[in-house]
Amino acid sequence: MPYPIIEHKYDVVIVGAGGAGLRATLGMAEKGLTTACVTKVFPTRSHTVAAQGGISAALGNMGSDDWRWHMYDTIKGSDWLGDQDAIEYMCREAVPALIELEQYGVPFSRTEEGKIYQRPFGGMTTDYGKGIAQRTCAAADRTGHAILHTLYQQALKHKADFFIEYFALDLIMDLEGVCQGILALNIADGTLHRFSAHRVVLATGGYGRAYFSCTSAHTCTGDGNAMLLRANLPLQDMEFVQFHPTGIYGSGCLITEGVRGEGGFLTNANGERFMERYASNAKDLASRDVVSRAMTIEIREGRGIGPYRDHIHLHLEHLGPEIIKERLPGIAESAQIFAGVDVTKQPIPVLPTVHYNMGGIPTNYYGEVLTLKDGNPDRVVQGLMAIGECACVSVHGANRLGSNSLLDIIVFGRAAAIRCAQQLVRNAPHRPLSLQAGQAALERLDRLRHNKGHLSVADIRLNMQRTMQQHAAVFRTGDSLAEGLQKITDIHRSFAHVQINDHSLIWNTELIEALELENLLVQAVVTLKSALNRTESRGAHAREDYPSRDDERWLKHSLAWCNDQGQITLDYRPVHMYTLTTEVEVIPPRPRVY
Ligand code: FUM
Repeated sequence: MPYPIIEHKYDVVIVGAGGAGLRATLGMAEKGLTTACVTKVFPTRSHTVAAQGGISAALGNMGSDDWRWHMYDTIKGSDWLGDQDAIEYMCREAVPALIELEQYGVPFSRTEEGKIYQRPFGGMTTDYGKGIAQRTCAAADRTGHAILHTLYQQALKHKADFFIEYFALDLIMDLEGVCQGILALNIADGTLHRFSAHRVVLATGGYGRAYFSCTSAHTCTGDGNAMLLRANLPLQDMEFVQFHPTGIYGSGCLITEGVRGEGGFLTNANGERFMERYASNAKDLASRDVVSRAMTIEIREGRGIGPYRDHIHLHLEHLGPEIIKERLPGIAESAQIFAGVDVTKQPIPVLPTVHYNMGGIPTNYYGEVLTLKDGNPDRVVQGLMAIGECACVSVHGANRLGSNSLLDIIVFGRAAAIRCAQQLVRNAPHRPLSLQAGQAALERLDRLRHNKGHLSVADIRLNMQRTMQQHAAVFRTGDSLAEGLQKITDIHRSFAHVQINDHSLIWNTELIEALELENLLVQAVVTLKSALNRTESRGAHAREDYPSRDDERWLKHSLAWCNDQGQITLDYRPVHMYTLTTEVEVIPPRPRVY
């Protein structure tokens, strides 16, 4: 059916209002570009609000530090899959980007001398691995909350326009593959909106909700990633899914790594601080992949806690009520609500829980989306950028270090704004859109809302989440991944039989959940296929049948395209083993021990 469409024209349209989206929105508006931010939830409800422990930057407020040490740690943490030019950019720019955040008004915790308080975090060291760095800048254990609220206020101050509770349906691409805008649905009143823009910036976050147990909000459905795949563009390194060591057992709610940064530690059923056996220097502050594997081994070998021996204890009783109240008030509350635990007296039951997607939309360090075309692995897709968790810059490679994600969203949100200010002229005329622009998205929407299948959204979603939890786990084998891929392909196909009871476009949460599920399914398929394909172990991708890292064959990024039928094509991009400047040297691959 023909839909009336409301047209909008902006210099830049940002999709998503988490930390990356808001930092870009604020930056673009501050530089005088006409800027719209289209977001499916109210900005301060975006998932960045849940980030707890802090944001890394080598400020050196609490001991000597150097952005080059930070760069080394990030490359090592990435298990050498990170692009070293982009990592150099992020760690160097961390320092000015942090000072700007402070000036925007983020209420950081303070040292006695009034400097920004910094705590230790996993894998963050001094002097190229010799000591433990205090590099993670914190606002108690509510750092994401503090950043998100500040950025939203600043974006409003600079007169960015917000389109709140609008669901982005698809990119509008012209025949040459240039992005010209997006099509979105106003969730409240069912109206359809076509946004023309000189740049579309995707900041749509990760897809943690493809799994059964994750720390991610229910909104984390990777909508931008799926839009990319539908535009026949590839996603990168989707096999790398991070398990955070300390999700609360049962609920999955995050307990910040900042707990271990403040001196908390893990024990098994024998009361043993087992991390000493797995990472003799860093112990509980080894990187997340290492700690999550150690916990999984302890449980598998029968040393888990509880009647089912299926979890681990995290202790912070010894820190004392004063420190807990001052530095970790939020987790004390979460542990009480979700585990019934008084953290001043009892340990918290925890389990490795899906937390972050290292993979996503391939970009360069300006935030420009890349694709492989005519043999060029770094070909820029005109008009399109991606930042934050949906992007794969790649600064995290195969495993992200804790507190580098808040850094990533701030540095690359800012970088996207700097790039647009250099390349765009305010209010330049837009190329006319073809009459067909957005038509495929409208047809998809129309088909879906009238679908008369026999499977509920909830049933298909649960099948997907159980399959991902079982088959794309901390440890993987070829057999289990192949079985998982077969199952997820069938589940993806089963979406053709989804039953939508409410055909309206107005406040139809069933329809929105179906759109999100469709987005999740395609990412789940790509994740399992990429994981099956990578026959080595690197970072968060631990193959029991290929237990070693294989730099000869696999020092490369996976690229995956997926067509409407769920058929996947794979290819590769080389890892950038070069730096941006001569101030630092490339760090060649070496064994990774903590
Ligand atoms: O543990 C945490 O506070 C999470 C931080 C992060 O994922 O960067």
